[in-house]
Amino acid sequence: MKHEPTLSYARACDERDPLRGFRERFALPIGPDGTPLLYLCGHSLGLMPTEARRIVEEELDCWARKGVLGHEEGTRPWIPYYRNMAAGLASLCGARREEVVAMNSLTVNLHLMLASFYRPAGRRVKILIESGAFSSDRHAVASQLAWHGQDPQVSLIELAPRPGEDTLSQEALEACLAEHGSEIALVLWPGVQYRTGQAFDIEKLVRAAQRAGCIAGIDLAHAIGNLPLRLHDCNVDFAVWCSYKYLNAGPGAIGGCFIHERHLQSGPAARLQGWWGHEARTRFRMEPQFVAEPGAAAWQISNPPILSAAPLIASLEVFAAADIERLREKSLALTGFLEHLLGPLHPDVRLITPRDPAARGCQLSIRIAGPDRRGRRVLDALAARGVVCDWREPDTIRVAPVPLYNSYEEVFHFGERLAQVLREHS
Ligand SMILES: Cc1ncc(COP(=O)(O)O)c(C=O)c1O
Repeated sequence: MKHEPTLSYARACDERDPLRGFRERFALPIGPDGTPLLYLCGHSLGLMPTEARRIVEEELDCWARKGVLGHEEGTRPWIPYYRNMAAGLASLCGARREEVVAMNSLTVNLHLMLASFYRPAGRRVKILIESGAFSSDRHAVASQLAWHGQDPQVSLIELAPRPGEDTLSQEALEACLAEHGSEIALVLWPGVQYRTGQAFDIEKLVRAAQRAGCIAGIDLAHAIGNLPLRLHDCNVDFAVWCSYKYLNAGPGAIGGCFIHERHLQSGPAARLQGWWGHEARTRFRMEPQFVAEPGAAAWQISNPPILSAAPLIASLEVFAAADIERLREKSLALTGFLEHLLGPLHPDVRLITPRDPAARGCQLSIRIAGPDRRGRRVLDALAARGVVCDWREPDTIRVAPVPLYNSYEEVFHFGERLAQVLREHS
């Protein structure tokens, strides 16, 4: 970075920022003093697009005025509701429309995908994940192994970073696949690791997994809406996500999944079914024979929660207007600015997210050196100064400037407040 990271420099960056107007399309949480909080927590819960309220109200009005007729009438009839989200999700995933579907929530979708794609056979029965995977992902794969009569103690491989390191290399993954690949049925990997913020090269990791004969599934919880994705071209077998982080669709919002076209064409080995995956045209004949709706939509089981899907429509409209490639460009600069501000705070602050911008998204994860859970004390002191970021046990603070609604000025203030708090809490 050539310039001194001063407040006037940050303001000049904001003035030049072609995406700065998008901030006005979000509700900014307000602190007790009536001013906006310094919200750097989009990796946990994204902010509300103001249009979300209108769309939810439209659905409530439709329900109030039309009752059951809303299934087929109104601005967005409820029966084919998933179609309202297909184009936007496909664009963010780098997928064909028929490869994506909004449904359920992340862990439920993961179970549905594992039901289809984890098919232990012969010696190939194991599942490979990263050690330190998000707890819910681990619970899902361990319980799937047990469901298939496998002992998770034996059949769950958890790849750990090398001693003293925080992140995992592609080489380590490849070495593990070279050693154990013939016993591994499925690899489940994050697009972006939730604790460290490390972004993986999806194309490379999928290629390595498939070369070893494994199915490659990706958890996009921290990747969708954060980084541009090319799931179709990267030949990902399946992916799952939630929509409440960078997708800004609200607490508990409807999740989603991707299934590669080639699995749609060949037909899955297995699929847990319900009436909403049945071909829409004949669904209400209520016949016993299951006829699949084309595409990933066949994996739907129940009719969708309209009120938790409506905000996603508003959010996807914002993404379509902003363009994920432009957002990534700003994100690289914004997160790079944050990294620059953290530099002089070393060794009090240690960055655990990779320094390579290609190996991370919006989020930086930091550790605070010092005794008596100093990191936790620092986080609490930041909160008292109106900063919203978060903590992941045992010792990590996660901070994510989000290009849709965060400014360079906010990142600057974060750096200042952190420096102040560190001085006060030694
Ligand atoms: C990486 C990852 N996996 C799984 C989950 C669980 O999501 P859900 O509660 O929507 O199933 C989360 C939630 O934050 C997550 O970050």
